[in-house]
Amino acid sequence: MSAEVDPLPRLAPVLRAAAARFGTPVQVTDGPTLEAAAERLRAAFPDPWLRAYSVKANDVAGIVARAAGLGFDANVVSRGEWAVARRAGLPNERITLEGVGKTDADLRAACRAAADGTSLRWLAIESLDEAEALVRIASRVLRGAGARLDVLFRLNPEVVPDTIRELAVGAGTSKFGMTADELSTAVEVVGGTLGLVPRGIHLHVGSQLRAVDAWRDAIRRGLALLALLGGTRPEFDTLDIGGGFPVLPLGEAAPDPLRFARELPALLEAIPVDRRPRRLAIEPGRALVARAGFLVARVLHVRERGGRQVVLDTGMTELIRPALYEAWHEIDALTSLGRPVDPGDRGGPGSPGGPAMALEPARVDGPICESTDHLGQHRLPPLHRGDLVVIRDAGAYAASLASTYNGRPRPPQVIAESDGSLTLARRRGSLAALG
Ligand code: LLP
Repeated sequence: MSAEVDPLPRLAPVLRAAAARFGTPVQVTDGPTLEAAAERLRAAFPDPWLRAYSVKANDVAGIVARAAGLGFDANVVSRGEWAVARRAGLPNERITLEGVGKTDADLRAACRAAADGTSLRWLAIESLDEAEALVRIASRVLRGAGARLDVLFRLNPEVVPDTIRELAVGAGTSKFGMTADELSTAVEVVGGTLGLVPRGIHLHVGSQLRAVDAWRDAIRRGLALLALLGGTRPEFDTLDIGGGFPVLPLGEAAPDPLRFARELPALLEAIPVDRRPRRLAIEPGRALVARAGFLVARVLHVRERGGRQVVLDTGMTELIRPALYEAWHEIDALTSLGRPVDPGDRGGPGSPGGPAMALEPARVDGPICESTDHLGQHRLPPLHRGDLVVIRDAGAYAASLASTYNGRPRPPQVIAESDGSLTLARRRGSLAALG
């Protein structure tokens, strides 16, 4: 697999243009980087794999629509995300609904769609309580002849993946999914109801996985349970292995999607042929969108606080990951003392950027009234108020976790096309919508 090319040197002028046109902070998604990420995932999990994009990673409808155009269906966790996927042009048959806490209204909506003959690809359920609620609702709603809703059952795979504690959702003590015993009971409960069809197992090991080991163990468990339950249910034939493929700062070693995919043949071969899943699915979020996202901001203050401190006009309201998980996002300057600088061009003889930029440490903070609104220590050139910087890898779990805390409207969402032109995907939130 060829090394990833840093898109920032190519994009720097486009990001400056986005700041000039839409103001800051502004979130830019690079179309070509998104396409490259989609291609990597498609190459690792080619057809007939079912590939759904986990909308929670970035729920901007324009991005969900791009993902759909690149061969990704939508995996949603609420009626809100479902509505976004529909607005992005996806029909229900290309949408899967899961989610840790589904209400009766959510389950009813899935059943109604099935009753109308426009069923979701499947609904994945989390607990015995949810199985019983689904049966109660389905037996009222799924009356029409031929109404059919396929159901997946989320397995808690009881593995502890190598990632940060908050993202290790596959651990046995986590709130996610069912034990194998609970799951088997839930299949019986759901399978006895007209119109509800148990179709298989859903699992998700965790996000930002730095190693494949726990993932491999989880899939082994999922396959074994699927084979066991499929023995008496021929339609129980689907394994959805979730997402979790990591995106670390460029240059940091991380297993790529192909490295994960290479584990599968041996796992499948360990299962008798007639008990192997007939359908396999992934639902990545971060791996599709993280690298493509760039959050462009301006410098508000530069001052001495036992070292240089730089305060930006963006922070935890637009990108909460550093405050929430101490996640690291690289920051580069787009201008220095008012002059354009091109990140990646570290200067040197013959460099178009002229002499090497003098990079000095700076503590970078956001503008929110919270001391955790801190973006880390970075090496940056001389900066003054008004200079532009870019925060990298901000395409996943940034826009979708944005808040309006401190009365800050959500930033505009812009897509950079391959020719450098800019498409506005969502305008800046309005002051009128606050409060
Ligand atoms: N499937 C399920 C059931 C999930 O819970 C998730 C993510 C995904 C798929 C997609 O995972 P991905 O491919 O993006 O790793 N806010 C955190 C990440 C939370 C992930 C939640 N679940 C962050 O900023 O790192």
